[in-house]
Amino acid sequence: MSVLIRGGEVVTANDRFVADILCEDGIIQAIGVDLDAPAGAEVVDASGQFVFPGGIDAHTHMELPFMGTVSADDFYTGTAAGIAGGTTTIIDFIIPGRNQSLIEARESWFAKSAKACGDYAFHMAVTWFSEQVDREMRQVFTENGISSFKTFMAYTGAIGVDDAELISIMDTAGDLGALVTAHCEHGQAVIAMQKKLLEQGHIAPKYHARSRPTWVEGEATNRAIMLAKNAGQPVYIVHLTCKESMDAVYRARKEGQLVWVETCPQYLLLDDSVYDKPNFEGAAYVMSPPIRPAGHQEHLWAGLAMGAIHTVATDHCPFRQTDQKSMGREDFTKIPNGAAGIENRMALMYTYGVTTGRLTLEQFVDVCCTRPAKIFNLYPRKGAVLVGSDADLVVYDPSASGTISASDHHHKVDRNIFEGFAIKGAVSHTVANGKVQYAAGDLRVERGAGRYLPRHPG
Ligand code: URP
Ligand code: ZN
Ligand code: ZN
Repeated sequence: MSVLIRGGEVVTANDRFVADILCEDGIIQAIGVDLDAPAGAEVVDASGQFVFPGGIDAHTHMELPFMGTVSADDFYTGTAAGIAGGTTTIIDFIIPGRNQSLIEARESWFAKSAKACGDYAFHMAVTWFSEQVDREMRQVFTENGISSFKTFMAYTGAIGVDDAELISIMDTAGDLGALVTAHCEHGQAVIAMQKKLLEQGHIAPKYHARSRPTWVEGEATNRAIMLAKNAGQPVYIVHLTCKESMDAVYRARKEGQLVWVETCPQYLLLDDSVYDKPNFEGAAYVMSPPIRPAGHQEHLWAGLAMGAIHTVATDHCPFRQTDQKSMGREDFTKIPNGAAGIENRMALMYTYGVTTGRLTLEQFVDVCCTRPAKIFNLYPRKGAVLVGSDADLVVYDPSASGTISASDHHHKVDRNIFEGFAIKGAVSHTVANGKVQYAAGDLRVERGAGRYLPRHPG
């Protein structure tokens, strides 16, 4: 199976040049001018369009059992939506319950992910600590190339860890040369504030945000960074949302500490007025951390522009409004936390990052495609336009335009938190694993064709 992408402007994290790209047997075989199409090759005319490496979303939750329900996209529908939006690889999370074996959870996640149509890797969440957990962290690192371990400083009493556990997890990960990633919110403070708000009769979605103000995240971000410093290791902060957290990052970076930072489009593009929507519509935006007051977004854009924020992921974790978000109609703490975004990430970042002049095209490619691959040991197989890399490529037509809507997205949910957002440009073709899997609105994915990607450090 061959695909020739002809005459596009190839954009990488460092470069722009016009070239043809020949893909054969799932690999980029040649990059050059006037390449011949082998017999039977599918030819994609990319003239006047950009060609990016396939997008990598380093933070998704497909089919996640969470808060009494299960996130609405499974590995098939979620990776399909990704491919429709130019994301060809995801890094999802195996999340064992507290006291559950990591190996048992691994088996259950591998069973679910077999239906993925896009390539995928796993972070392993570590939700408790013991000698067994220490052993099993080493086991999944060796056996599965799971080289990043996720910790939750929130969700206390469920999947959250305390500081002593976090220190132990960092020690084991450090021993392995693996990376610890952290969801930073002060779990105990959230519980205390939730309790107080509910006692005062505040049950509506907007109180979700009130129970998790920015200091809750800033404090925990600073603590995670301090604990990583104590462990002598880098740390990756997931879904950073606010100025207080950026301040903690800048302080550490000035002292020479290596802190990787991820943010998401919803934190760049929405403000907390979304929680004031009538008729329980604010529930669609209930996620943790919450959407922030106006003002914080500019700190994130600045962090991206100056390279202090390294990746843009989605935290794709969709729940239907009708029968899932509605579980929290009488109590905001029961609204399942999360929203969809995988299909929209590339177009949103192109539109609101590149065309506004906030990011160069190369920076856009770096944060959406290349840097996640480098940080998480997927590069240069993924995130690159190089001979020998996987043939995962996105042809993006800058002359197209559109509007985001739940009425035509591929996410299996009834709301889109970016409903009505104008989009400049559009993915015209997605080549994944050497095949044209999306072409001008035609999604041609194959259930089960996605491959698991081990990530042994290089
Ligand atoms: O609200 C969110 N973010 N849901 C998914 C789980 C997590 O915290 O990442
Ligand atoms: Zn999180
Ligand atoms: Zn998440």
